[in-house]
Amino acid sequence: MEERLSNTEKDALGEIGAAQAKDELEQVRIKYLGRKGILARFFKELETVSGEKRPVVGQAINRLKKVLAQSIKQREGELSSKAGKADSLGVDITMPGADPGIGNLHPVTKTLNDICGIFSHMGFAVIEGPEIETEFNNFEALNIPLEHPSRDTFDTFYIDTKNFDTDMEKRRLLRSHTSPVQIRYMQDKVPPFSIVAPGKVFRPDATDASHSFMFYQVEGLVVGKDINFANLKWTLFEFARQYFGTSSKMRFRPHFFPFTEPSAEVDISCMICNGAGCRVCSQSGWLEILGAGMVDPNVFQAVNIDTGLYSGFAFGMGVERIAMLKHGIDDIRLLYENDIRFLKQF
Ligand code: PHE
Repeated sequence: MEERLSNTEKDALGEIGAAQAKDELEQVRIKYLGRKGILARFFKELETVSGEKRPVVGQAINRLKKVLAQSIKQREGELSSKAGKADSLGVDITMPGADPGIGNLHPVTKTLNDICGIFSHMGFAVIEGPEIETEFNNFEALNIPLEHPSRDTFDTFYIDTKNFDTDMEKRRLLRSHTSPVQIRYMQDKVPPFSIVAPGKVFRPDATDASHSFMFYQVEGLVVGKDINFANLKWTLFEFARQYFGTSSKMRFRPHFFPFTEPSAEVDISCMICNGAGCRVCSQSGWLEILGAGMVDPNVFQAVNIDTGLYSGFAFGMGVERIAMLKHGIDDIRLLYENDIRFLKQF
């Protein structure tokens, strides 16, 4: 009988291991542990075993019963975790996927969208130009003469200075402002028009809390009949009112730009300190956000627009500055470090 018990154990364990589904396993359980199963028969047989051997055999049957019950339970566990797996792939298709997280737009992108959105509603078209420009578009056509300091290679990233072409139309550089988009547009189109041109600009500045070698500008240009300085002022005030709110203040300071005459620099009251003076506004209470002015006749001449017929205004604003002002960011570098903890806040 002991030999039969050990054979039964081998057979049963083999069948349990081979069961591929729960109902199959249940059949095995009934076969061995069921009321009329093999083990029940062993117990019955026990009655025929002689007195002194009976407890030993009884223990052996009980042990086998335990072993089989345990191994069925274990197999059951294996089968239920396997149930969710696509067999051929060995992949658990019920496992939750890796959460990629919901991203958001970069604060600079948002600011660009907001600025362009406001101007679009005023009727401006949004135009883009290339980041690699000709020296002609970036400087010459904008009335920036050769001896102007910003022509210095130190202030502009020139491309391939070794093989400097003598032809300015061919000499390439990374645009130092978005104003060359004005030139491209005016060479192509007949007034009247109003455009804004967002994009990256490049200057070899040392990086600090308020400077970066690459930053964004939004250029504005309006050309038509009887366009005057009051139109420029209204447009910019209206922009500031919509973007910064009614409590913001704006001021025009006389300035010089080669491509506008008269020209102004426009400041907005510092939102970080409410005009009291802080690190960001260099204690002045004001922050310069843009340059502007009436299009210089020399620029119109460079693009063959009749100065007797048309006038216009232009402006160029620093996007990071505006984003920093709006959100109280006191270091431009935060915008470029891609620290998720910072970017998540917008
Ligand atoms: N291009 C000028 C700058 O980068 C800004 C500007 C644009 C000023 C248009 C006047 C008119 O500083």
